[in-house]
Amino acid sequence: MKKRINLKGRSLLKISDLSNEELIYLLDLADRLKRKKKRGVLGNLLARKNIALIFEKASTRTRSAFTVAAVDEGGSVEFLGRHDIHLGKKESIKDSARVLGRMFDAIQFRGYKQETVGILAQYAGVPVWNGLTDEAHPTQALADLMTIREHFHRLKGIKVVYMGDGRNNVCLSLMMGCAKAGANFVDCTPGELAPGHARLDEVQAVARRNACTVTVEPEPARAVIGAQVVYTDVWVSMGEESEFDKRLRLLKPYQVNMGLMRQTGNVGRNGVIFLHCLPAFHNHETELTRKLGALEVTDEVFEAPFSKVFDQAENRMHTIKALMVATLT
Ligand code: CP
Ligand code: NVA
Repeated sequence: MKKRINLKGRSLLKISDLSNEELIYLLDLADRLKRKKKRGVLGNLLARKNIALIFEKASTRTRSAFTVAAVDEGGSVEFLGRHDIHLGKKESIKDSARVLGRMFDAIQFRGYKQETVGILAQYAGVPVWNGLTDEAHPTQALADLMTIREHFHRLKGIKVVYMGDGRNNVCLSLMMGCAKAGANFVDCTPGELAPGHARLDEVQAVARRNACTVTVEPEPARAVIGAQVVYTDVWVSMGEESEFDKRLRLLKPYQVNMGLMRQTGNVGRNGVIFLHCLPAFHNHETELTRKLGALEVTDEVFEAPFSKVFDQAENRMHTIKALMVATLT
């Protein structure tokens, strides 16, 4: 008999907080909520829910996704930017957590330390959702998996190759998401940026239980053979700006370009998609790329028919809505 899933009252700090079944439940709910919105039906699943959105770092998608998703279902949000609140400055995180938890029904946190989101969850007494920290980006991984499943109609056995900074928040969350969902994950990254042993051991143990693999492969040409998903992210994450020159040197060979996409053997057969969590340095329309050209992905790949980055961006909203509905109602 199928176990009944009940996520009410739960926080999401990292993907491993979810069981395999809970992860798939959220993706199924996101599919249903997406269909509901496409039919033009808005609901009241989050009616009278007040949601705090704390942002220490910048955001376009995550902030917008939480806002639109809440409003679609009758909830309301309050944006609390880093210059607006006392969190961790005039007031301890623990005190802010207890105050916000008395007023809001849930808290989203985007910022630097994973520890901060942990303290919020420990003391707020309401669900706390991690909207990105230095270590994890779990709501991104939900949207990534939803997008992959939309395209291939399954996750089990799909080969996902992540190119670039192989130990950043997006990579680590997707890696664990794939291991839980039965997808094979290749982290294509130089040794200097590979995840630590403890992290790899943990995720590989999960993968083994789910009959899939998680591997690290430093050689791009070898990594992408047979890839069905090629994924990349910026080479320098928020907060690591001082690493810029070093990263550029290290990660240049890991750029996703048409040559690399062809090496998958799946271009032209509708057999491979390109994903990126965004924002992306792909064209000459940012200050940085006007100077340096495309970085982690070329414009040709970004704009190709197999690039599903805007479906993926849209799916941030549907998966975040699913997370809010599941944990608040
Ligand atoms: N992918 C993502 O988290 O985008 P934002 O930084 O714009 O929220
Ligand atoms: N790894 C990136 C993701 C941005 C959505 C960062 O942390 O800046």
